[in-house]
Amino acid sequence: MDADAPAENPYVTDPDTDFAPVEDLDAEAARDQAAQLREAIRYHDHRYYVENDPVIGDRTYDALFSRLVDLEEAFDLDSEDSPTRRVGGEPVDELDTVEHVAPMLSIDQSGDREDVEGFDDRVRDGLADADWDGEIEYVCEPKFDGLSVEVVYEDGRFQRAATRGDGVEGDDVTENVRTIPSVPQRLRGDYPEFLAVRGEVFMPKAAFREYNRERVERGEDAFANPRNAAAGTLRQLDPSITAERPLAVYFFDVLETSDAPDSHWTQLSRFRDWGLRVAEESERVGDIEAAIDYRDRLLEARDDLPYEIDGVVIKVDDGDAREALGATSRHPRWAFAYKFPARKEVTRVTDIVVQVGRTGRLTPVALLEPVEVSGVTVSRASLHNPDEIQRLGVGVGDTVRIKRAGDVIPDVEEVVEDRTESHFEFPEHCPVCDSAVERDGPMAFCTGGLACPAQLERAIEHYASRTGLDVEGLGPERIEQLMDAGLIEELPDLYALDPEALADLEGWGERSAEKLVTELDDAREPPLPDFLAAIGVPEVGPSTAKSLAREFGDLDSVLAADAEQLQAVDDVGPTVAREIREFFDSERNRAVIERLRERGVEPQAVEIEQGDALDGETFVFTGSLDEFTRSDAQDLVEAHGGSATSSVSGNTDYLVVGENPGASKREDADENDVPRIDEEEFLKLLDERGVR
Ligand code: IVH
Repeated sequence: MDADAPAENPYVTDPDTDFAPVEDLDAEAARDQAAQLREAIRYHDHRYYVENDPVIGDRTYDALFSRLVDLEEAFDLDSEDSPTRRVGGEPVDELDTVEHVAPMLSIDQSGDREDVEGFDDRVRDGLADADWDGEIEYVCEPKFDGLSVEVVYEDGRFQRAATRGDGVEGDDVTENVRTIPSVPQRLRGDYPEFLAVRGEVFMPKAAFREYNRERVERGEDAFANPRNAAAGTLRQLDPSITAERPLAVYFFDVLETSDAPDSHWTQLSRFRDWGLRVAEESERVGDIEAAIDYRDRLLEARDDLPYEIDGVVIKVDDGDAREALGATSRHPRWAFAYKFPARKEVTRVTDIVVQVGRTGRLTPVALLEPVEVSGVTVSRASLHNPDEIQRLGVGVGDTVRIKRAGDVIPDVEEVVEDRTESHFEFPEHCPVCDSAVERDGPMAFCTGGLACPAQLERAIEHYASRTGLDVEGLGPERIEQLMDAGLIEELPDLYALDPEALADLEGWGERSAEKLVTELDDAREPPLPDFLAAIGVPEVGPSTAKSLAREFGDLDSVLAADAEQLQAVDDVGPTVAREIREFFDSERNRAVIERLRERGVEPQAVEIEQGDALDGETFVFTGSLDEFTRSDAQDLVEAHGGSATSSVSGNTDYLVVGENPGASKREDADENDVPRIDEEEFLKLLDERGVR
């Protein structure tokens, strides 16, 4: 194109002057120029995304790209692997399942040094048994905290990509992976005829922060961490959405190739030659001590890396040695992941507040000086209950070490610097309504019931929430506003709201006032299960509510059922039956139901069917959820054709992480590449499937 371009960089051009108007080209000239542009763009993509060493500015690049788009449009030049395809193809209804070229195994792993030494011993013994007498060398690489993908190239062209799935089959994410700029559409140089590679797709830390900021600005929910963001993006049904999100990839293993070299280190250098991105941090070392040293160095450097890692992977370098060692059914014997300890950071407690939940449960929360823990800014940590405060001996002003055990809310692990003489005294009266605080085991409760404004507020929130009657336009802020204005003193007041009084409130107008009143009117005859879930009976979430409705048919029969009849209902045991009875026996609750009825609320009997919206999908739950008990969540999944199991395996589709999750399930999920989702994402998924 530009005759004056330097020889080592043949594709530099000045788009402002070099291109004749599209109309002036004939079909052949257009085809030639499009072909040159594609090659130029591929070259610059490689310089930018793979080599990290761009040779042209963004403006020039954009001009080349839009010229190519213009030509393809004007002359109808479609090409499977044109860079313009990166903007994403048509949305699909669901992702197809595809079988991997070779099983995608997982890696043996541990965070203990002794286990790493044990791995080295097994490698030595194994190779001695196999009479392999070469020098053992290890290749050390970062262990990327993203999602494993298989990418297949045939004749150097990007063919398809799949998630790991159960290791044998995964989801076809070809169109999504095609949009990732660091995945080349064509290999460079002397590539093999057939190549299936394994890599990790992730969202770089800086891009993640920026992307989350934009989401929040648009009023969307932030992702908890880069891994979740990458998982959600990779399995998008609409590739054009994937294209807009900043994903990247590193490649680190061959699944199958027509031309295998004799060592992993050589393989990585070939990857680079072919334009496949390899982490610069990879190193080859002479023994396990040096590999351990590599891990220590990377742990130090972790925060400075542009992407998240959760350990290092140590791999035997020699190809024959690998073959001699072989694999178990789960993982190769030639690789080991030396994991980093959980993320911890030190910060100061600026205050301790006590929150009142819907059931009156009091949860102490430490407010913190904001600190970043694995890519997430943390400014509060749950202290769980009064006993935990006692155990930690924590007070305002103390410096504490916090640990992100789950994905969202961190734990306070210990006090590292005690600045206060006495630690936090748990209040004896509810901070909101001043009722006495009652202890039940390690937990504390406000005894104010619905007379406590905080409990009432939560109860109304729950009543109007998606788990309840799903009243649009009645979120937490509005409920607080209505209560502050004295328009609601108890739940049934919702049905006596005066549109004129509403319209006078700040931020409301006639339309929004009318709309809310209409929404509430429409909710006067709710399906019985929704109503039972909405009024906040302890332990009764959507699924148990459905079982109760199925068993008893109408509200009066539920109200009249004795403990024994209640226990006949699926998953209602003696404790739950007693709690349900106590709830309905409480005069205050009876009065609320009575007054709701006086205001025209009459729950309706409904046919209850089993659905199949979650057919074939497997969920595992860890930690406690807000909107459901764990067993309700499991029932809900099963009622819609999904399965809920207690441990994570390669067959698990989602690990739903609540508060105080177990570490082992998370680790199993990571090892098996099972996406971790939080409660909000779970709810969103249910909504998307029309389950709720
Ligand atoms: S090698 C069977 N190398 O970690 C050996 N895996 O916990 C092939 N991972 O899902 C994998 N970084 O996707 C290898 N440098 C790296 C890796 C890596 C991250 C992932 C891998 C797997 C998970 C295992």
